[in-house]
Amino acid sequence: MNVNTIMVIGAGQMGGGIAQVAAQAGYKVILNDIKQEFVDRGLKIIDKNLSRSVDKGKMSVERKAGIQALITPSLTLDDGKNADLVIEAAVENMAIKAQIFATLDEVCPEHTILASNTSSLPITEIAATTKRPDKVIGMHFMNPVPVMKLVEIIRGLATSDEVYKLIEDITLKMEKTPVEVNDFPGFVSNRVLLPMINEAVYCVFEGVATPEAVDDVMKLGMNHPMGPLALADLIGLDTCLAIMEVLHKGLGDSKYRPCPLLRKYVNAGWLGRKSGRGFYTYA
Ligand code: CAA
Repeated sequence: MNVNTIMVIGAGQMGGGIAQVAAQAGYKVILNDIKQEFVDRGLKIIDKNLSRSVDKGKMSVERKAGIQALITPSLTLDDGKNADLVIEAAVENMAIKAQIFATLDEVCPEHTILASNTSSLPITEIAATTKRPDKVIGMHFMNPVPVMKLVEIIRGLATSDEVYKLIEDITLKMEKTPVEVNDFPGFVSNRVLLPMINEAVYCVFEGVATPEAVDDVMKLGMNHPMGPLALADLIGLDTCLAIMEVLHKGLGDSKYRPCPLLRKYVNAGWLGRKSGRGFYTYA
C-alpha cells in the first residue's frame, strides 16, 4: 500500500511537530484541530521551527516554503476520507480518543491506517472502538518532535504485521528510529521515564532538595540533557500526572502512586511551560 497523505489530529506541541516531520519527509499533510485558533497555533509552531533551521543556514527559504505548502489546515474529521494514514495526537483522554477513532473508522477509506501518538493509553482498547483493529497502531513521538530520534511503535493485540512494517518504513522516511514495543501501561519510554520524574517530585515534596538542586544532580551527575523537573515542565505536568495514573491503575503497584505535590500543581493550573508555571516560571 502507498501512503501519500497523512492526517494529524491535534495541532498542539506534539501534533504540530508530527505534521512538520511528515511534511519534511514529503507527505501531504492534513493538520486538524477543533478550532481555527488551535490549527493556527500549530502552523505557527511549525513556522518557528523551520525558521530556526533557515536562520542557522541549515534549510533554504524555498525548502521551508515547500514543506509548509504540503500542509493543509482542517477543522473536520471528515477530511479523514482523503487520508492513507491518520496520526492522532489529541488530549490524553480515553473517552475523547474513543470518539475520534470511532468517527475516523466511519469516514476513512478501508485501507487507512489509524495511529495514535498516545503516551500511555492502551492501543488495544483504542483499536477496539473501531472495526479495523488490525490497522490500529501506536506511533509515540518524543518532545520536541523535530529533534528527538525515537518513535516508539506500539503493537496492539490485533495489529497486523503488514501494518507494523508499513509504519516502520514511514518512520524511517521521517528520519526517525522506530523501536518496537508491546502494548502495556506506559509502554517502555514512560514506564521508565515517569517514575523517575515522579521520584524527583517526591524529593521536592519531602524537602530533600530544591527543584534546581534535583535537576543539577541529574544533569551534572548523570549527564541528562535537562533535569527531570525541567523535563516535566516541558512534557506538561498534567500529562505527567495522567501517565502516572495509567501506570498506577494499569500495573496495580503502589510504587507508581503519583506524588501529591504533582497533583497539587496540576489542580492549581501549574502545568509547566504551556501555562507559564510549573516547577519553574516561564516568561
Ligand atoms: N523544537 C524544535 N527544535 C528544537 C526545540 C524545539 N522545541 N528545542 C531545541 N531544538 C533544537 C535546536 O534548534 C537545536 O538544533 P541544532 O542542533 O540544529 O542547532 C537543538 O535542538 C539543540 O537545542 P539547544 O542547543 O537550544 O538546546 P539543548 O542542547 O539544551 O537541547 C533539547 C534542547 C533537545 C530539548 C535537550 O535539552 C533534550 O534533549 N532534552 C530532553 C528531551 C527529552 O527527554 N524528551 C523526551 C520527553 S518524553 C516524551 O516526549 C514522551 C512522553 O510521552 C512524555
